[in-house]
Amino acid sequence: MSAAAPKKILLGVSGSIAAYKACEIVRALVKGGAEVRCMATPNGARFVSTLALATLSRSPVAVGMFVDPSLWDMAHISLAAWAQRIAVAPASASIISRLARGDASGVIESVVLAARCPVALAPAMDAEMWQHPATQANVEQLRKYGYEIWGPEHGELASGRVGLGRMMEPEEIARRLLA
Ligand SMILES: Cc1cc2nc3c(=O)[nH]c(=O)nc-3n(C[C@H](O)[C@H](O)[C@H](O)COP(=O)(O)O)c2cc1C
Repeated sequence: MSAAAPKKILLGVSGSIAAYKACEIVRALVKGGAEVRCMATPNGARFVSTLALATLSRSPVAVGMFVDPSLWDMAHISLAAWAQRIAVAPASASIISRLARGDASGVIESVVLAARCPVALAPAMDAEMWQHPATQANVEQLRKYGYEIWGPEHGELASGRVGLGRMMEPEEIARRLLA
């Protein structure tokens, strides 16, 4: 009997300080036998090296909207068709807002709009940003679209304060994606 085909997991990284933890997610996914590809917002790529993501995932990283066509033929469509699971981790308040209103201005947003596979978002932000009614309304809208919202968790935040806004632990995100 042949081994099961590796799961195709697409990870989107947006502009949160937690973006460096995306490397740990990718590493755990690859270790778990998945085929991984990454995409990032331009701001996400300021927080984590696309070289690190590309090296760990063994695949180029799609950044922004206008991805080099020699990497993927229309990345926003081909990545959406390729993926069996999509996670945006970390998901910034800003990308949560854009996804809630169907904004297709970036590669992550366009891929999520075009995708037919399960989508999960792992928010990461300051506790006040998370609790703001605008963010909560956006999250509620995303839940209505059928996206899973993983976290955030209570704990130490980048500011040094403690509150609700910390991204779910990378190992747990990877475990859920591999499940
Ligand atoms: C040092 C620093 C840390 C930040 N951390 C977060 C964060 O954890 N969560 C968040 O939602 N925004 C955070 N921001 C703000 C976002 O980077 C900003 O809203 C950005 O426009 C998000 O872009 P994107 O959603 O297109 O990636 C941070 C900004 C700076 C300068």
